[in-house]
Amino acid sequence: MGHQLIDNFGRQVRYVRLSVTDRCDFRCVYCMSEEMTFLPRAQVLTLEELAMVARAFVELGVEKIRLTGGEPLVRRNVGQLVADIGALPGLKDFAMTTNGAGLGKHARQLREAGLQRLNISLDSLDPTRFRRLTRTGDLERVLAGIRAAREAGFERIKLNAVVLKGRNEDEVLDLVDFARGEGLDISFIEEMPLGDVSDHSRAETYCSSDEVQALIEQRYPLLPTTESSLGPSRYFRMGDSDTRIGFISPHSHNFCASCNRVRVTVEGRLLLCLGNEHSVDLRAVLRRHPGDMAALKEAIIQAMPLKPERHHFTTDGDVQVVRFMNTTGG
Ligand code: 5AD
Ligand code: SF4
Repeated sequence: MGHQLIDNFGRQVRYVRLSVTDRCDFRCVYCMSEEMTFLPRAQVLTLEELAMVARAFVELGVEKIRLTGGEPLVRRNVGQLVADIGALPGLKDFAMTTNGAGLGKHARQLREAGLQRLNISLDSLDPTRFRRLTRTGDLERVLAGIRAAREAGFERIKLNAVVLKGRNEDEVLDLVDFARGEGLDISFIEEMPLGDVSDHSRAETYCSSDEVQALIEQRYPLLPTTESSLGPSRYFRMGDSDTRIGFISPHSHNFCASCNRVRVTVEGRLLLCLGNEHSVDLRAVLRRHPGDMAALKEAIIQAMPLKPERHHFTTDGDVQVVRFMNTTGG
């Protein structure tokens, strides 16, 4: 059968990010507003529908799936979905993005169900600041979650830090040292203009990856690596540590030309690009033809020509995409 997902610009889609819930126990200032209205359950894909979507993509040639949210671990019985996806033949890389708060409880079970990798969000090592950035988060609990993930045998755990000027850019070196000490990788992310957040002006808090890199190089010279994770991260190493440092730079380094990914929102909308609205309603297909794998696959194949050539994020604070990250799947 071979690989069946190729867009109009010759890019092969090999990576799907699947949002399993729009809910979260945190309210990070760059991701959500303080008062959020979440989707009614009927609009959200069931765990069975999510498993079917994952299987369709893998049968069409997708090799990598990442579960995202919201916070995947607040979805009830998400362990069952993880086990279903973990058992799919042909899947080479199976990962989850999490805020870490639920890992103390779930890490072992997730590892046993076949989840291979974890990205854990960590923007600050100061408890008060952590609380301010996440609005509800408890730093100690997340640090315990990180320890539990290591003990459960997850390898190459990666921390994700969104850097905001005036908020946490002075912690970049501390976060690097934490990652080095714990044997973790870390990526620094430029804030993306998703959703209309009221907490801060994005033009004022914008901190480019080049600035972050310059901060790190005051202490550690960074050596570029050729490793890519089939994605937008650019990775560097330090001479004296296994820790890799990544930069995800949607503003300052456009990575659209090599984009191999699509997203499925929690409502089953197949999004062809994070920065554009082009999409196909897979939930409609799933509910019109329950259990019909052929119809689902056909809808996915037909969607490929809709993938736009590039996104057009700007740093001047213009909100271009009104979706919040939590419905989109990071
Ligand atoms: N810009 C960049 N990253 C974001 N995330 C959420 N909202 C944004 C945003 N506006 C990322 C955070 C978190 C992950 C779940 O999504 O890095 O780690
Ligand atoms: Fe929750 Fe992640 Fe959004 Fe923070 S960034 S509110 S942890 S989904």
